[in-house]
Amino acid sequence: MTATILDGAKVAADIRRETADAAAALASRGFVPGLSVIVAGDDPASQVYVRNKEKSAREAGIRAETLRFPATVTEAMLLAEIGRLNADEEVDAILVQLPLPGGIQSSRILEAIDPAKDVDGFHPVNAGRLVQGKRAPVPCTPAGIMELLRREDVPLRGVRAVVLGRSDIVGKPMATLLTKADATVTVAHSKTRDLPAICREADLLVAAIGRPAFVTAEFIRPGAVVVDVGINRIATAAEVARCFPGDEAKTEAFAAKGSLLVGDVHPADVKERASRYTPVPGGVGPLTIALLLSNTVDLCRARRRL
Ligand code: GUN
Repeated sequence: MTATILDGAKVAADIRRETADAAAALASRGFVPGLSVIVAGDDPASQVYVRNKEKSAREAGIRAETLRFPATVTEAMLLAEIGRLNADEEVDAILVQLPLPGGIQSSRILEAIDPAKDVDGFHPVNAGRLVQGKRAPVPCTPAGIMELLRREDVPLRGVRAVVLGRSDIVGKPMATLLTKADATVTVAHSKTRDLPAICREADLLVAAIGRPAFVTAEFIRPGAVVVDVGINRIATAAEVARCFPGDEAKTEAFAAKGSLLVGDVHPADVKERASRYTPVPGGVGPLTIALLLSNTVDLCRARRRL
């Protein structure tokens, strides 16, 4: 079987266009949606993510700012900043980029965000509301995946879904959303016994385990739909040879750059076994940003009762 691509980049572009239209409609009534992003420390990947988030937000007509703090920032400083943003009438959405520097307890920071401005949906109140099926901002990556599956007509009712990974950011909310969509959901993880056999039961496999090309052919049911949430950097020739066997373009790119990106799913194996799959890059990544923008607009409407 040769699988076809689930085009996350295209769906993300559609969502961004719709969000820009919605933001323009709000602006014409005098309400410009506002997003404030906090980033602390100098993790290079986080710096790239927040730059993209701010730029994409501006392009959609959202008022966006990034507040940067050194790795030496204290919890008290971050809590003070969040208190200020909670009280700022112009700020509809607050995002604290994770991971935070060592020594800072992320949960204390995330719990300080006003749930009505919690654009990531990471506050325990919003996580609980989501589980109970109540209105809440939905974490951007799983929300983006659901939107992709809906717009690409991937059936969910009654299907066997396996979510590989149990993080608060992806795995847990993903399992909740798939359950709500009437899938039969198994959450599997690094301690699951006979992981390949469990994953092989899946009509829909969502890989969010954070290990490069971990999901190989033996994990994938022939004809399954595979969603790859991973973004892993590989930097050894052996890893490149394992992930991209015989791929000259990738080998040359590795020689030029010294590293390559690969998802949690083996890129050659998924093409052989799946019916449809999300590529890395260009699959789930762009959707996460698109849903951040649409969540921002949703929070603006809800807060201002529009
Ligand atoms: N770090 C990795 N993914 C995310 C995300 O979706 N939101 C935030 N705030 N930080 C992240």
